[in-house]
Amino acid sequence: MNIILLGPPGAGKGTQAKRLEQERGMVQLSTGDMLRAAVKAGTPTGIQAKAVMDAGELVSDAIVSGIIGERLDMEDTLKGAIFDGYPRTAAQAESLDTLLSERGRQLDFVIELEVNEDALVERVEGRFTCANCGEGYHDKFKLPKVEGTCDVCGHHEFKRRPDDNAETVRTRMAEYRAKTAPILPFYEAKGLVRKVDGMADIAEVGAQIDAILDGKA
Ligand code: AP5
Ligand code: MG
Ligand code: ZN
Repeated sequence: MNIILLGPPGAGKGTQAKRLEQERGMVQLSTGDMLRAAVKAGTPTGIQAKAVMDAGELVSDAIVSGIIGERLDMEDTLKGAIFDGYPRTAAQAESLDTLLSERGRQLDFVIELEVNEDALVERVEGRFTCANCGEGYHDKFKLPKVEGTCDVCGHHEFKRRPDDNAETVRTRMAEYRAKTAPILPFYEAKGLVRKVDGMADIAEVGAQIDAILDGKA
């Protein structure tokens, strides 16, 4: 099964993708995470992407579709891909169709996380992740069970993203409204879109997604 998680910054795409990875053995394909890894490694792609990401704008379609294509050639993605933060433009949606059909694969669902933008700034500003395994947390909504210790791997260091400040989040939301939300009709026409209430708590959002994947919603 291959699915897209679609929603603005802080909607919960990464949170739900990581859970599906742990519970269903699917593979999270987050272009944001891949770009951040490229920035950290100082690759040519990373050097080009850094300023764009820090400004909250979109990296070029050619770069992100290129990295998704390379990733889809790795065999683990045959277990099922969760596209998180990709596609984000009409051109990327077209590219994804081509990348999948070239490999004899197809999309099963596009899950839209419906959220109230006003609540998202708080979510994004409170977010932090384990510096070792990437598990996501939140100052208010999802603290580690033992303070200062990652629930998943036991690591003690955490990090925050440079683009997680109120001003950049506003730009990221504007980009979502202008360029990403308009791709929904493309998938609606294919009958692939399912909506979940992204304002519910994390477990409830997960339950709604599971019901869709299990054919019960
Ligand atoms: P990316 O990394 O994709 O960021 P984003 O889309 O802005 O989304 P986020 O990661 O901020 O949100 P999320 O939905 O994953 O939320 P999360 O689950 O963490 O992209 C970053 C940048 O890279 C872009 O701005 C762009 O420059 C570039 N880029 C990436 N992909 C690209 C592409 N395809 N094309 C061009 N450029 C691209 O949740 C947020 C917080 O809320 C967490 O702390 C979590 O614990 C908490 N939370 C989650 N769910 C709930 C809930 N239901 N209730 C309460 N709290 C919750
Ligand atoms: Mg994310
Ligand atoms: Zn960890």
